[in-house]
Amino acid sequence: MMPRQTACDIPPFYVMEVLERAQELTRLGRSIIHLEVGEPDFPTPEHISLAGNRAISEGETKYTHSLGLFELRKAISEHYGSQFGLDISPDRILVTSGTSPALLLLFMGLIDAGDEVIMSNPHYACYPNFVRCLGGKPVFVRTFEEERFEMSPETAASAITGRTKAVIINSPCNPTGMVMSPGVMRGIAEAAGDVPVISDEIYQGIIYEGKDHTILEYTDNAFVLNGFSKLYAMTGWRLGYLIAPPGYMRALQKMAQNFFICACGFVQRAGVAAMNGPEAPVRDMVAMYNKRRRFIVGRLRELGFGVKNDPQGAYYVLANATKFDDDSLELSRSILEEAGVAVTPGIDFGDGAEGYLRFSYANSLDNIREGMSRIEAYLEKHAV
Ligand SMILES: Cc1ncc(COP(=O)(O)O)c(C=O)c1O
Repeated sequence: MMPRQTACDIPPFYVMEVLERAQELTRLGRSIIHLEVGEPDFPTPEHISLAGNRAISEGETKYTHSLGLFELRKAISEHYGSQFGLDISPDRILVTSGTSPALLLLFMGLIDAGDEVIMSNPHYACYPNFVRCLGGKPVFVRTFEEERFEMSPETAASAITGRTKAVIINSPCNPTGMVMSPGVMRGIAEAAGDVPVISDEIYQGIIYEGKDHTILEYTDNAFVLNGFSKLYAMTGWRLGYLIAPPGYMRALQKMAQNFFICACGFVQRAGVAAMNGPEAPVRDMVAMYNKRRRFIVGRLRELGFGVKNDPQGAYYVLANATKFDDDSLELSRSILEEAGVAVTPGIDFGDGAEGYLRFSYANSLDNIREGMSRIEAYLEKHAV
């Protein structure tokens, strides 16, 4: 017996493969600098961890409501109220074990075989794989370095057909660090018309220039994905959520009941502490990312990588490496094996990022400095 064909055909999440090889090299005694994985190096802020611990010791180890603890949904609703002036009912919020399961539920709720989902290229690696696994067809809209990799409303509109089920946007963006301007967000909402927009806002709050926006400021015909992994340094806790138009909630809830039952209760308690607790730990982390951003962008340019625009959000730089090698998988493999620096090949994010490498600066300045020195030595050795 074999897995079904679509399961066999799913490409790997290359960044995880790089990470796994880097871990293997570490086990063999090599020193590796990690600039590949999109995971904060900071520990989860203490008040959040304490709330999770407290919830365990107080016996919050049972199933919760399938939509999530009311307190958490209320805190999320209040966040969208205070931050964006929106009135989002907690009934429209479904809490999940990370943003990834929210993506799965959403696509399961939207896609029949042959349906199309529009997304930028480059894009977050996993979007097309979710769509294809459900028999859908990702439709790519190229975005370009010269335009900060921002999708234009016109190109989104021109990709819409009778089979389009959604347009995905992701701001701040992984892998490009692009923050979509409010005018373009509004434009895409208008261009999409009756087609819902899926807005992945998981990097909301990690922004260095300008102001955060949510698609819900511009349209109600939208789904928002968000989570605690990035802003609160909670990747391993696995906590995320989906905000959906009321008409979709019952179907999404029934799928969540069947497939996941609920998100972990004490983790949700930690999430309440994250949303309602002090903002200083998050502010400090973002300030640190910003220092690292300036440093790494400067060093990458010195080394000869192409970085046309400074990333404005998230903690990634998508650097043009075609001067060194057009094959990003081979270049990242070689830099890892020879220089001991793990970076993500652009091809993970679609052929629009082939020839690029994604550098994550969710690592200490010392490590980034060392990583850049190692890459400098590697490039000098390979200079033609
Ligand atoms: C754009 C984007 N969406 C979703 C996710 C999934 O995050 P999680 O499942 O940890 O919430 C990630 C993780 O890297 C991401 O970068």
